[in-house]
Amino acid sequence: MRVLLVAGKGGVGKTTLAAVTAIAAARDGARTLVVSTDPAHSLTDVLGMTGSTGRAEEWRSASEPTAVPGAPGDLDVLQIDTRARLDSSWSSVRSTVEGLLGGVGVDPLVAQEIAAIPGVDDVLALQEVGIHARGYDALVVDCAPTAETLRLLALPEALDRLVARGFPIDRRIARLLGPAGMTAASVDALDALERVSRELSAVRALITGPGSAVRLVTTPERVVLAETHRARTTLAMLGHHVDGVVVNRVAVGDEWPPPLVERHRDMLVAARDRFADLPVRFAPYSGVEPVGIDELLGLADVVLGTSDPLDLGAPRAVTDVRADGERWFLDVSVPGAELADLDIAVTADGDLVVDLGPHRRVIALPPVLRRCEVSGASLDLTDAGQVLRVHFDRDLTRWSAGARP
Ligand SMILES: Nc1ncnc2c1ncn2[C@@H]1O[C@H](COP(=O)(O)OP(=O)(O)OP(=O)(O)O)[C@@H](O)[C@H]1O
Ligand SMILES: [Mg+2]
Repeated sequence: MRVLLVAGKGGVGKTTLAAVTAIAAARDGARTLVVSTDPAHSLTDVLGMTGSTGRAEEWRSASEPTAVPGAPGDLDVLQIDTRARLDSSWSSVRSTVEGLLGGVGVDPLVAQEIAAIPGVDDVLALQEVGIHARGYDALVVDCAPTAETLRLLALPEALDRLVARGFPIDRRIARLLGPAGMTAASVDALDALERVSRELSAVRALITGPGSAVRLVTTPERVVLAETHRARTTLAMLGHHVDGVVVNRVAVGDEWPPPLVERHRDMLVAARDRFADLPVRFAPYSGVEPVGIDELLGLADVVLGTSDPLDLGAPRAVTDVRADGERWFLDVSVPGAELADLDIAVTADGDLVVDLGPHRRVIALPPVLRRCEVSGASLDLTDAGQVLRVHFDRDLTRWSAGARP
């Protein structure tokens, strides 16, 4: 299945562009599901599923995918209310988790970190999206505003790792500790943690798979472009493929004041400059709100033309290990980042920690790199764009005869 996450700052046009893209994918023959986790539920409005039929409310609150009337192909829509569907079993155990993990010998700081993670519910909502998406060729997700989306996209990997680290002992052994060591609540908490961990792996596979991409929507304003640029760098660092940028609400033509048209033209040039290695498309400022199938199809023609609606063709982000004689390199995509913004460290567990401003990625190193030392790092330009290249040299104490990795 192919997955496209449509992301961007609040109000830039994510819902509109998600609808445009989903309609284009359906028109091109893909069985498509377009999903929103926004409680405002504007997706069905944008798709024109309101008005005289009297079914607007039914559509708005449907808990299963619903066919979009009048769509040019096979298009369903689903609006998930994350708050209504909050996974109660996780919420109820969250408070127990910290004490439990402490009880089985987990570092109290790690236990706290796991218990305090916000947004697990959001991840589970995303997982629910994955369940509904089975059987479709294409899934288009209308995301929450950037900051939340970045947090959400970083979570599966971070939480998965923390849960793994949080289990220094096998849970069957924990059970064997019997009633003395484990209360019923503790066993429930372990069950819930294990389930969350499994579900997170599925979410990660869904959003970072080879057929998945993030498309960034922005507007022709300096501040919004700057935020989009940072989001792009962070997404790539986290291992997500950004396939292109859409600059929305660009004033073109006689109906707009010439100074505005000129400013937007300059901003579009600036966007193409900033995102020189990405396809940059634009959507014209429409005099009427782009609502309904016909309006959206018209926008699709301008924004996407004859391109594959689900992949505008940017180079894919990489997290790659390469060997060069006695040395190894680990490449992590960081387009547009400065070396000064980046920080790396290796943990005692053999994970590589990459920090980019407030964003962190923890990469479990393959066995060969665990037997090496980090000897440096550089920013290099490759076919996949700019990467942070971490250099590894053999740590001879870990390669000598009899030494165990
Ligand atoms: N190209 C366009 N021309 C004119 N109006 C537009 C265009 N794109 C979006 N709009 C309008 O701008 C408003 C915001 O768009 P939209 O709801 O798609 O943004 P959003 O990023 O999903 O917002 P939110 O962050 O609140 O979910 C809507 O009223 C929408 O109809
Ligand atoms: Mg929206």
